[in-house]
Amino acid sequence: MLIDTPAFIINEATLKTNLNTLGQLRKQSGCKVLYAMKALPCSRVLEIAKPFVDGFSVSSLFEAQLARDILGKEGEVHLTTPSLIAQELYELTTLCSHINFNSLSHHALYAPIAQTQAQIGMRVNPKLSFSTDERFDPCRPHSKLGVDIDTLWQSNHLEEKEIHGLHFHTVFSAKDFTPLLKTVEKLRRYFGNKLEKLKWINLGGGYLFNSINDYQPFIDVVTLLRKELKLDIYIEPGNGIVGNAANLVATVIDCFESDGKNIVILDTSVNHNPEVFEYQRLLDITEHDNTGKYTAMIAGGTCLAGDVFGEYRFKQPLQIGDKITLNHVGAYSQIKAHRFNGHNLPSIYLQTIDGEMQLLKRYTYQDYQQQWTMST
Ligand SMILES: Cc1ncc(COP(=O)(O)O)c(C=O)c1O
Repeated sequence: MLIDTPAFIINEATLKTNLNTLGQLRKQSGCKVLYAMKALPCSRVLEIAKPFVDGFSVSSLFEAQLARDILGKEGEVHLTTPSLIAQELYELTTLCSHINFNSLSHHALYAPIAQTQAQIGMRVNPKLSFSTDERFDPCRPHSKLGVDIDTLWQSNHLEEKEIHGLHFHTVFSAKDFTPLLKTVEKLRRYFGNKLEKLKWINLGGGYLFNSINDYQPFIDVVTLLRKELKLDIYIEPGNGIVGNAANLVATVIDCFESDGKNIVILDTSVNHNPEVFEYQRLLDITEHDNTGKYTAMIAGGTCLAGDVFGEYRFKQPLQIGDKITLNHVGAYSQIKAHRFNGHNLPSIYLQTIDGEMQLLKRYTYQDYQQQWTMST
């Protein structure tokens, strides 16, 4: 099948490999697995993930609605967000099985309503930082994410059984479980047997389960929490499920020289990968070759001067019409993609396990028009 570019291609085999890995871990440790759909809320991905997970974790009313569209009445939907608003609370309680409050003030305001239908939890900030980049650190100074562990310790929320569970999420793309072990150790040191008053702890996302070799520390810590404290343990990975399960294929639309460097313009841009610009992330490109003789600045086609993917090496000089594949862009790319400059969003394809290429979505001028044409 001839695909139009830019094409966001979801690889079903990789997705299922990731889900199977988590399925094994679920069996071995007894943890429950939620897919953090903020990473990629594509309905087809949710359908594929559904049989492998206990539910979805969400951060808004729209995500909760989509989660229930896919799950129906079955399955769990866990909400964690600093942006809970009063007008949405009732509907959220009808959609979500679990609601985690981000602050004591939200708990005081909304728990009486939320707990009529949902289990309620508190996001705790364990104040253990594992990132040197504050933008990814939920435990940074003056964090807005979760109740400071010291404040929670001083409050009587655990003794008084005012919450059913605790939630924390503190790492970004972690490739071993050291942060998890340290965080659980700190929680146990602070709260001791008060943790037994809870029903569950949600360990959050942030671990690249598909790139970790030694799962034993995870299995041991989850088993300990389940057996000793009689708690249900949840994890909610996003990137670890979809990150490496999609790539973006783009076409070279122009090549020229600027101040002695070869510039190659693609029919994609940082519009489709905002994190390349935001975090100056260097994407993995299939056609790049470390020993290649030809270098080129790979750039996007918007008017933003910094819309540049970086300098890469190639065996042959690139030409108009060549294809470039940006790898591992399954998480936080298509969901953050936008149409700045009136550039269309990438079409979405599923490469099935049988190798068939299915077109899931092609955006049109009508989608752009609908977004920007006002009724008055
Ligand atoms: C509360 C919460 N849970 C889970 C996730 C998923 O994290 P990741 O995609 O890194 O696994 C995030 C990501 O921002 C998050 O904020």
